[in-house]
Formats: sequence, C-alpha cells, structure tokens
Amino acid sequence: MPFLLPAALGLASMAAAALVPASSVQERTLECVIKPKVFIISLFAPEAAVWYGIPEFDLLAMNVTVPGFSAQFPDAHCTADGEICQLTTSMGEINSALTVGSLMHSSRFDLSQTYFLTAGIAGINPEVATIGSVTFARYAIQVALQHEFDIRDLPGNYSTGYIPIGSTSPTEYPQSIYGTEVFEISQPLQKLAANFARSASLNDSSQAVSYRANYVSELYAAARQTPAVFECDVATSDVYYSGRLLGEAFDNYTSLVTNGTGVYCTTAQEDNAVLEALLRAAGSKIVDFARVIVMRTGSNFDRPSIGGSATTNLFYAEQGGFAPAVENIYRAGIKVIEGILDGWNSTFAQGVNATNYIGDIYGTLGGKPDFGPYSNGGGPQESADIYARR
Ligand SMILES: *[C@@H]1O[C@H](CO)[C@@H](O)[C@H](O)[C@H]1NC(C)=O
Ligand SMILES: *[C@@H]1O[C@H](CO)[C@@H](O)[C@H](O)[C@H]1NC(C)=O
Ligand SMILES: *[C@@H]1O[C@H](CO)[C@@H](O)[C@H](O)[C@H]1NC(C)=O
Ligand SMILES: *[C@@H]1O[C@H](CO)[C@@H](O)[C@H](O)[C@H]1NC(C)=O
Ligand SMILES: *[C@@H]1O[C@H](CO)[C@@H](O)[C@H](O)[C@H]1NC(C)=O
Ligand SMILES: *[C@@H]1O[C@H](CO)[C@@H](O)[C@H](O)[C@H]1NC(C)=O
Ligand SMILES: *[C@@H]1O[C@H](CO)[C@@H](O)[C@H](O)[C@H]1NC(C)=O
Repeated sequence: MPFLLPAALGLASMAAAALVPASSVQERTLECVIKPKVFIISLFAPEAAVWYGIPEFDLLAMNVTVPGFSAQFPDAHCTADGEICQLTTSMGEINSALTVGSLMHSSRFDLSQTYFLTAGIAGINPEVATIGSVTFARYAIQVALQHEFDIRDLPGNYSTGYIPIGSTSPTEYPQSIYGTEVFEISQPLQKLAANFARSASLNDSSQAVSYRANYVSELYAAARQTPAVFECDVATSDVYYSGRLLGEAFDNYTSLVTNGTGVYCTTAQEDNAVLEALLRAAGSKIVDFARVIVMRTGSNFDRPSIGGSATTNLFYAEQGGFAPAVENIYRAGIKVIEGILDGWNSTFAQGVNATNYIGDIYGTLGGKPDFGPYSNGGGPQESADIYARR
C-alpha cells in the first residue's frame, strides 16, 4: 500500500469543510501522500530522458506538479504505486538548491524513508578514472567557493588564482566558513550502491576509446582504462572550468578542506546545492541524511592530456564520452534502484547505519566532523568566534 492517506489530512479537510468550497475539499482529499522508496535527482533533460520508456518501471504514470520547481521541469514523475520518483532540477547551484528545497516542503510527499539518488554526468579527473566510468561519492566539495584573482594580477609565487575565503594563501584552510563547503554522506551506503552498480555492463564508444589513448602520461594511467565503477568524490562549481592547472588547484583544495581524505574525481555544478537542501530538511526530520547517494558518470575529462590544449579539450575535442556517460546513468543506476527495492524489507526500510561522520562542516546534524575546524561538533558557535577574532 504505497499510497498513504494520513489521518491528519482527512481530519483537516473535515474541519475545514464548512469554510472551504466543496470542490476544494474534494481536491484536497484526493491528493494522496506519496511515500517513495527511491527518488532520482536528474539535473538536466538528457539525464532525465534515460529513465523514461524503460522496461523496469514507468515514471510517467503519475506526474505531480510541485510549486517551486523550475518552469522547464515543473513536475516530479512517479510510478503508479509511488515507489519510485524522479525530478529534474535544471542546471547549476541555484536551480538545484531551489528545486530540491521545494520538494522537501511539498505536502504531496512523505520523504522520511526515501533514498535519494543524484544521478548525473560530470567532468572526470584522468588521474583517477576515465570517461564513461560511474562514480559514487563520499564527499562533495564546493571548490570554487573561494577568493579569485586573475593569475596575471598575482606575483610569481602563487600557483593558482584561487585562495580559500578568509585566507591569504592557497594552502591555508578557509578562515571564513559558509557551511556548504563540504558534505560527507554515508560510506556504507556509498559502498553498497557501488557494489550494486558493479553488476552492470557499462556502455562505451569507439570515439571514447580513441580519445583515452591520448593520455599517455604515467600520471594518467587511469584515463586509459575501460569504464568501471569508482568510489571517489565530486567537486561542485557553477564555473564550468577545464584545464590541468585548475584541476590541480581544485584537487589541492579538495585535500585541504577534507583534511587529506577526499579524492578529487568528478566535476559538476549541483551536488553541494542538492546536499544543503537535503541537510536542512534532515535537520527538521523531513528526510534521513543517511539515505543519500551521489552518483556521477564521466562524460568528459576535466583537463587535456599532457601537452594538449585546455580550450581544445573543452570546446573542440570530440571526446565521445557523453553518450556512454548518459547511458551508464541508467545501466548503473537501475542496479542501485533494484538493489534497494529487492533489499527493502531486509535492509533498506530500516536504513543502513552510517559508520562514518555524515553531514556538513559545522556538524549541524550532530556528530563530530572528521574534516574542518569544528571536529568538536560545536560548529556555528565556533564559527561566530572566528568572525569575532578577525
Ligand atoms: C506525465 O508527463 C509526461 C510528459 O512530461 C507525459 O508524457 C505523460 O503522459 C504524463 N503522464 C500522465 C499520467 O499524465
Ligand atoms: C608571495 O609573496 C608575497 C610578497 O613577498 C607575500 O606577501 C605572499 O604571501 C606570497 N604568497 C604566497 C602564496 O606564497
Ligand atoms: C553503447 O550504446 C550504444 C547506443 O545505445 C550502442 O550502439 C553500443 O553498441 C553500446 N556499446 C556498448 C559497448 O555497450
Ligand atoms: C598543488 O599543490 C602542489 C603541492 O603543494 C603544488 O606543488 C602545486 O603547485 C599546486 N597546484 C596548483 C595548480 O596550485
Ligand atoms: C516486504 O514486506 C511487505 C510488508 O510486510 C510484504 O508485503 C512484502 O511481500 C515483503 N516483500 C518481500 C520481497 O519479502
Ligand atoms: C543502527 O544504529 C541504531 C542506533 O544506533 C541501532 O539501534 C541499530 O541496532 C543499528 N543497526 C544495525 C543494523 O547495526
Ligand atoms: C583539518 O585541518 C585544519 C587545518 O589544518 C585543522 O584546523 C583541523 O583541526 C583539521 N580537522 C580535523 C578534523 O582533523
């Protein structure tokens, strides 16, 4: 019985009956609350399209218009029984934060037991993996939330124009904290999801096979492999960057803000925004932050091969990774969804305990962050103290 009509809704409607026109009461009582087991978060149309018209389930059986979604993608799409739903945020941090934030407060959904699967394509670091690969993150890092100088305005002793906010050197931990810098999600769930995905047969293209062969440097041995499933982390930036120097600068920043434990691997424009929306809702017990999976598939390298041009890599090279990356969202993602549904009664209904710290840099959800300056869990107060000291 996936449709749950809460007693509260019925009572509220009855109480309001004298005051509200009959048609409105009828509309409200017809609106059943949907309690999904899995909610797929797509960021733009090609990532959404892979989920429609598939043999496993029909996401277009029930459309739910959610106030606050983008005008381009106004509906959440669900199976008829409401077990699986999907939305499309529209690209970038603002769109994705607002769409997911709006879902959190929709009266049409009970999201308390829902697993959220962010499923999108991404740039990929050739030091770690290759195009067509499927990755599952433990950390999401907002890499461009920094000061920036054009490197031509800096003296020669700076290796990058990006400097952590409140700091004066690229190697100094950010001194001014916004709260969205880093999110850590459940490692046991990350590993379960990656293992489900490992049973998928991944797609590839001949163009991708040829493009990988350019990455001859030993540093990029991972780039020459065939697509596979990786556990590695995602960088978020509205700025769609490309090139070795920015890749290395953001790799360094990832290490800095995760205290050496994050693995700079994929690059995208939404994950920290989605995670902040989920974290705030988790703080109000609307969702369970231990039920979040961040999957990204590599559509293009974030930098050229050694000696290659950064602009060619981004603008002109036919890398051949886009089609397999989109296809592999479905091929790997369907295994994750089936794994959750098949194991629902035994494992997933009750939830998988996170053995690692989960949450933001402040420790907002409780626990002691294993990165950043608030490892005693006293986040916001300490943050205020840092402002006071400056
Ligand atoms: C849901 O919306 C899609 C278009 O986004 C449409 O093709 C489909 O028919 C709609 N489903 C229902 C049940 O109205
Ligand atoms: C570069 O040199 C300037 C001038 O000596 C100094 O103020 C600055 O801290 C140095 N920056 C770095 C990143 O080393
Ligand atoms: C990848 O998908 C394309 C498009 O569906 C298909 O033509 C191709 O054969 C697939 N390749 C592999 C290796 O799965
Ligand atoms: C990244 O860090 C390494 C080691 O500190 C440093 O040598 C390199 O210049 C940094 N790269 C960039 C682009 O800042
Ligand atoms: C899971 O539990 C529900 C409710 O108790 C039951 O209807 C369903 O058959 C169970 N599913 C499996 C696969 O055991
Ligand atoms: C998960 O954690 C809860 C609370 O700490 C505990 O009661 C429960 O037994 C744990 N479940 C498993 C499967 O370890
Ligand atoms: C992380 O590194 C920063 C800067 O070096 C340090 O202040 C902080 O205590 C470290 N946090 C943890 C949890 O190790």
